[in-house]
Amino acid sequence: RPRIFSGVKPTGHLTLGNYLGAVRRWVEEDQYRADALFSVVDLHALTVDHDPARVRRLTRQAATLLLASGLDPEHCTVYVQSHVDEHTRLSYLMECTAADGEMRRMIQYKEKTAREWERGGSVRLSLLTYPALMAADILAFDTDEVPVGDDQVQHVELARDLAQRFNQRYGPVFTVPRATRPPVAARVMDLQDPLSKMGKSHAETAGIVYLLDETDVVRKKIMRAVTDSGTDVVYDPVQRPGVANLLDVLASCTGDKPEVLAEQFTSYGALKGAVAEAVLELLRPVRARHAELCADPSYVDGVLRAGAERARGLARPRVDAAYAAVGLLPPA
Ligand code: TYM
Repeated sequence: RPRIFSGVKPTGHLTLGNYLGAVRRWVEEDQYRADALFSVVDLHALTVDHDPARVRRLTRQAATLLLASGLDPEHCTVYVQSHVDEHTRLSYLMECTAADGEMRRMIQYKEKTAREWERGGSVRLSLLTYPALMAADILAFDTDEVPVGDDQVQHVELARDLAQRFNQRYGPVFTVPRATRPPVAARVMDLQDPLSKMGKSHAETAGIVYLLDETDVVRKKIMRAVTDSGTDVVYDPVQRPGVANLLDVLASCTGDKPEVLAEQFTSYGALKGAVAEAVLELLRPVRARHAELCADPSYVDGVLRAGAERARGLARPRVDAAYAAVGLLPPA
């Protein structure tokens, strides 16, 4: 069985993008076909300004939502990153393997720093080194596959490069991982700005569907989605990004092809109505289960405790081997 690792960063409430691009596949396929670990990667949330109480709340909420979405602790391991020290232990070795230039070339780093610098602000050093921690997350577990949305593929490829470089320098310690992407909805776009990704930490929320949004809010956001000029429904992500995004979301919900779905609608209004109903149908059981789990926090605590214990046990020998390989004297 392949080993799978993936994670979600608690910098905001989980979105439809997280769900369609990543979580749904973890739930429906990955946990059953592989030995899979899924982590709420809270250390990554400290790379930007944050409110401690909010990060704590969002971490618990993300873990609860992963379980509510259908991750089953009988089939996979769910835990919080900061509960397992091996992540930060290995992260340092990744910083010693990576070159600063390749970190600076990461698209997300360039975008986030450009935005910050424009406002006259500064960015944290950890934002630059973030992909080293992410590589450590992956490599600590002999991971074969990393199921992610499009925006994380570059980071996984860096993890791949670092694994190969480390192995060349010090001997075969790490499994070389690869990213896997969903066939559709690998990049769900903001409903108000279909040229940008639907991101959980954006300030403007009208174009973002959160998994925990109320029914009427979800419907309103989708019905108000920006569409393109023209009135006919065609699938053309370049010329008609707004409509293409709605078709991608619908295709992801129904399992059809976006090109085929386009032929079934003659107006934008009808398309939006269908998207809203499909999304609501998908989210309804998640929200119901989330409410149940919130009423029973000791269940979630138990899952996270057992998950961290298993993750620690798996990562420990791999990270110890990496420490020994680079020349650190093992403790007597
Ligand atoms: P994060 O928390 O931003 O997103 C979690 C997952 O959701 C996917 N995703 C999307 N997919 C499609 N459309 C969107 N609009 C969209 N927005 C987010 C992401 O691609 C991701 O798969 N750095 C990672 C977390 C991480 C990680 C890891 C992932 C840390 N260590 C190790 C995999 C392996 C992140 O910020 O994801």
